[in-house]
Amino acid sequence: MKSIFFFVLMTITSPCYAADLTGNWAAKDPLGDGTFRTTYLDLPQEGERITGTIRITQFYYKIVECSGSADGFTLTGSMMDGTSERRVKYEGKLVGEELHVAARRRADAPLVEMVAHRVPAGEGRYPVRRPLPTLHKVADNGLARRPPMGWNSWNKFAGRVDDAAVRGMADAMATNGMKEAGYQYINVDDTWEAGRDERGNITTNKKFPDMKALADYVHSKGLKIGIYSSPGPNTCAGYEGSYGHEEQDAKTYAEWGIDYLKYDWCGARNLYRDDEMRAVYQIMGDALMKSGRPILYSLCQYGRADVWKWGADVGGNTWRTTGDIRDSWDSMTKIGFAQDELAEWASPGHWNDPDMLEIGNGGMNDDEYRTHMSLWAILAAPLLAGNDLRNMTREILEILTNREVITISQDKAGKQGRRVSKSGEQEVWARTLFDGAVAIGMFNRGSAPAQVSVTWTETGLKKTPHEARELWQHSDVKMNGAEYTAIVPAHGVVMLRVTP
Ligand code: GLA
Repeated sequence: MKSIFFFVLMTITSPCYAADLTGNWAAKDPLGDGTFRTTYLDLPQEGERITGTIRITQFYYKIVECSGSADGFTLTGSMMDGTSERRVKYEGKLVGEELHVAARRRADAPLVEMVAHRVPAGEGRYPVRRPLPTLHKVADNGLARRPPMGWNSWNKFAGRVDDAAVRGMADAMATNGMKEAGYQYINVDDTWEAGRDERGNITTNKKFPDMKALADYVHSKGLKIGIYSSPGPNTCAGYEGSYGHEEQDAKTYAEWGIDYLKYDWCGARNLYRDDEMRAVYQIMGDALMKSGRPILYSLCQYGRADVWKWGADVGGNTWRTTGDIRDSWDSMTKIGFAQDELAEWASPGHWNDPDMLEIGNGGMNDDEYRTHMSLWAILAAPLLAGNDLRNMTREILEILTNREVITISQDKAGKQGRRVSKSGEQEVWARTLFDGAVAIGMFNRGSAPAQVSVTWTETGLKKTPHEARELWQHSDVKMNGAEYTAIVPAHGVVMLRVTP
């Protein structure tokens, strides 16, 4: 009994580090673009144990474990991310006035070494939560009558995007046939932002010396330009968000000549709950309407809070329906084939967005990329290429610019397609077009070639067709009878346009 008592007492009171760390510490990691990511370690010492929080951009970890000796300490921080727990580990020691730490932000991530200095208590704390506006319906901006087509920097470049790369993409799009095929937007994703100037205006970091000049350049190619921000104080990559500056930022975007805004929840997570998203997104919806420039509004909050039910009411033209896509067959199909039930929420001006294209990024073969393109077209999803447009194979360019498939994507009825049948790993999807024709995707998710059959009555066709167009072979197909069977390559697709 006595020994248990001593054991409990020891674990509560045993010091994990002999020195006193009490205080607020900040460590800056250079991100290589002239900006820094700051980690705050707020460490109120309780007795001889280290407690408190670690904050990296919008992520707060509560310190749940500490151990150590006179030579150094190890802290474990824990955060709930949805229903799963994320942990970070910090090892460190005091060296004079400096706190030297080495962090592992995921179990499999490399160690990052940092030097932290004492900063005033409260520095780095999140801004306070502002009251939310009452809900109303933001007027339709009239944009995106067809699913937006363009390019976005994130999938290929992430934090490495800069002015020169964006100009290069505009040059490529304007000359390689993509523009003629309907691609229009050149979208800069996260990591262009610096802090704010003394009047609170958002500024660009050194990768983007002059955003207005860049917008002028993109416009001079007959294209449009998009930008990225967050309703929170920080973006997902830890850059400056629009929190408390929504109208000011919308005005800045309009002055620069921006045509498209992707608005990513991330940093808002510490201030607002999911059921408050509609009000939060309405703030920027209103701000864009007041900006005096038509700016396509793209909501990015990973499909939470049934965004399809209210996305249009905050002025949204597109809304993400899922978490981030990766350049793999598993990721792409998990997302793409899960969109069936959202079809009723899509209409001209308002689209479900299962995330950007990975076509050409190297993680899938050409059959798999044809499946990606076909499925996104049937889903009436935005077609935002995510590869390096300056440098792609002829096959990839042909996949991205297949006019017959793009015609399906851009069909003016704006009806999202649905799954009509599934048998094992084979699925048939159909999208009804404005003229009563039907686009049909015969998909083989299996890893060997397989027969796939479609029965016309399932697809919404009123009459038995005798002819169809195959949109990847660019050939006419004769058929008769109540169904049609094709051999579909492994992970591939046969895509038909069938006119009764
Ligand atoms: C989130 C979004 C991505 C991308 C990154 C940028 O993860 O879902 O599409 O914008 O943020 O940090």
